[in-house]
Amino acid sequence: MKPIHKVIIDKDTSFNPIWIMRQAGRYLPEFREIRKKNPNFINLCLNENLSSEITLQPLRRFDLDAAIIFSDILMLPYALGQKVEFEKNFGPRLSKINLDEILKINEIDFVKKIYPVYKAIKKVSSDPKLNKKNTIGFVGAPWTLLVYMINQQSPKKNLKKDFFKDKFLINRTLLVIEKFLKIHIKNQIDNGANVIQIFDSWAGLLKEKDLPNYVYAPTLNLVNYVRSLNVPVICFPREIKNYKEFCEIVKPDAVSIDYNVEPKKILKDIKIPIQGGLDPKILLTDKETLKKEASKYLNIFKDHPYIFNLGHGVLPETDPNMFDYLIKTVKNY
Ligand code: CP3
Repeated sequence: MKPIHKVIIDKDTSFNPIWIMRQAGRYLPEFREIRKKNPNFINLCLNENLSSEITLQPLRRFDLDAAIIFSDILMLPYALGQKVEFEKNFGPRLSKINLDEILKINEIDFVKKIYPVYKAIKKVSSDPKLNKKNTIGFVGAPWTLLVYMINQQSPKKNLKKDFFKDKFLINRTLLVIEKFLKIHIKNQIDNGANVIQIFDSWAGLLKEKDLPNYVYAPTLNLVNYVRSLNVPVICFPREIKNYKEFCEIVKPDAVSIDYNVEPKKILKDIKIPIQGGLDPKILLTDKETLKKEASKYLNIFKDHPYIFNLGHGVLPETDPNMFDYLIKTVKNY
């Protein structure tokens, strides 16, 4: 059995597998080297030779337990025909959504546009390096994708005031997103992904009264779908106030916590396997602090099925030596 499966399926507490959100990325000089020569980020994700190589880069350096495929949650709006660009020091920029055009897109059109991502997953998952490791496929949660598709950029701290104004647009778009997310998940699994993570990066923006409609219901639907394919699913409802309620309603196989979550409290509240938590900024301090802070999570979760990870993606300014030290700390615990 692969390491993440041991924890999620067997509830093994004898060890803590480790992988890191954004482990394939800008803190690695070998990634920046490739990125420099490939200014178009979407095209880089669609180059299966380069994207599979980038996925494997952190595994060549570090003793990680899983590969997460180098792609992006915004490949979904891209494959639905929305223009998606990544601007330096700004982040993603999307063209205005055209629902009529999106509604014309069928499964074949969609898969044709995104096919290299599946080829990359196939390459990575069949690499000998992944023999005893997990291959993680991922998607953005319906709500987070809706935010980018309507807002056309990161909402930072706030949504546009009129975000919910066009209810027809919002509801139809959500349904389209759900339909194509299922197709995207199925193809990732068919090509070798053996864990799925659902990133709901903007779950924390919603008022409590809107959570059932935009987070709980659509995510539960996806979780049930992934489970029907016999693959465990990890949810990351970042900055949601009530992780307990989320888990009780959505029932993922594991939940990834952000760095504002109090680990001792969540341990009391939640029975399912837990992942993550450590603030990525701790990697910018020193080894002593890093060891102390990582050990805090390891100690608190020592009798609970726990996958080590951060509370959000590793920061671009992280020193790869600190990253390595973190992994060694977890492995030697
Ligand atoms: O290593 C991995 O985790 C796999 C690859 C991965 C990327 N994005 C690559 C990427 C994953 C899992 C994602 C998920 C993602 N993408 C999320 C959810 C997680 C989160 O961070 O909350 C979101 C919200 C996005 C959308 C996105 N993509 C943004 C907001 C940005 C720009 C800001 C930033 O962090 O640079 C991206 C670009 C992006 N996606 C980069 C990478 C490596 C940086 C591209 C570059 O400029 O080199």
